[in-house]
Amino acid sequence: MAAGNAIIIEDGLIKCVVESAVAKDEYQSTCEDTEVYSLQGSAVIPGLVDAHTHLLWAGDRSQEIRWKQAGISYADIAERGGGIGHTVRATRAASSEELAIDGITRMESALANGTTHLEAKSGYGLDTETECRLIEIMDRLSNHHNLPSLDITWLGAHDIAPGMKRSEYVEQILSEQLPAVIDQGLARSADVFCEPGWFSCEESEDILRDARAGGLALRMHIDEFKDGGGGQLAAELKVESADHAHYTSTQSRAQMHEANVNTGFLPGTPYSQGEKNWPPFQQYIDESWRWSIASDFNPNCQTLSLPFLASVLVQRVGIDPLATLAAATCNPAQTTPHPSGKAHGVIEKGAVANLNILEGENWENWCLRPGHSPFAATMLEGVMISHNS
Ligand code: NIG
Ligand code: FE
Repeated sequence: MAAGNAIIIEDGLIKCVVESAVAKDEYQSTCEDTEVYSLQGSAVIPGLVDAHTHLLWAGDRSQEIRWKQAGISYADIAERGGGIGHTVRATRAASSEELAIDGITRMESALANGTTHLEAKSGYGLDTETECRLIEIMDRLSNHHNLPSLDITWLGAHDIAPGMKRSEYVEQILSEQLPAVIDQGLARSADVFCEPGWFSCEESEDILRDARAGGLALRMHIDEFKDGGGGQLAAELKVESADHAHYTSTQSRAQMHEANVNTGFLPGTPYSQGEKNWPPFQQYIDESWRWSIASDFNPNCQTLSLPFLASVLVQRVGIDPLATLAAATCNPAQTTPHPSGKAHGVIEKGAVANLNILEGENWENWCLRPGHSPFAATMLEGVMISHNS
């Protein structure tokens, strides 16, 4: 927002953006109960939207770092008893109370870093009871005051459940787990880890088509380690967002664009895997394809800071800070609706009043302070939350 402007907010929504002088005349002097926040020229950007998180899980996989450094692949770490299976065992053993407390702490950390809305996936239960339990806890967390809003996704097809054959697990998903999630009625979307070694394109398609028939919106994890054809499937099914997309072919990327599928890059994952290459962010800007960044918060990638990830793009890869801001606000907002049904991730009339106030007048600082939150305060649905306690 340009300096010298004021944002008028009513009932948690942006009513209009006007010049500060006009605001003083028209609102401050006429409405007695108007609250005025004078920001002294500090820059204001929209609330950040994190459209891909694995919010709820228990346990700790920090011991995997030495395996990663020794060059052992993600798939081989899973073979050794690490990876998703390790977290599934810890999550099943955790109480709902423990999971909820960790969830709240993580949402607070996201908010401190300017995130006002999170997409949150299940996926560390991998049985009907625990998957539904995780979704139920996320639903409870979504009603917490002064925490980011949540958009809930079922990710039962995150891995093959420990001790089961893949065909048995896919069958269990289709006949029991997915119908239970649809009956429960709390998840908005379904997601699948469509990747060679995890769920094939055929299995992913069966699960996603059934999920769509049950009224769920669709998302996908694709091509994290190799191009397995997930991009073509994402385009064919017109999913809302296909994420990771690190090794997707240019042809599939173009097909995804044609099909209006958002590409959700998850830069924290290559960062924490020690991967040397980055996906082609700049190509998306050059081609005007829609893309977003998200944290992918999970036990293997433990950041909930979009400003940190934006710093990686801007200061390591050379991506424009404004394009990166769009990738963390208005673009992901299109794939993860706010529960109010109103626009978010933008500063415009009628949008949810989710805003971040920077320390100082230069908005570029939003992505230039890795390791620190660049925000003095965050406004969440019209409520100002200071980060300087
Ligand atoms: O998106 N790769 C699949 N799922 C998560 C990681 C899960 C894990 O390692 O626990 C992701 O990166
Ligand atoms: Fe993920």
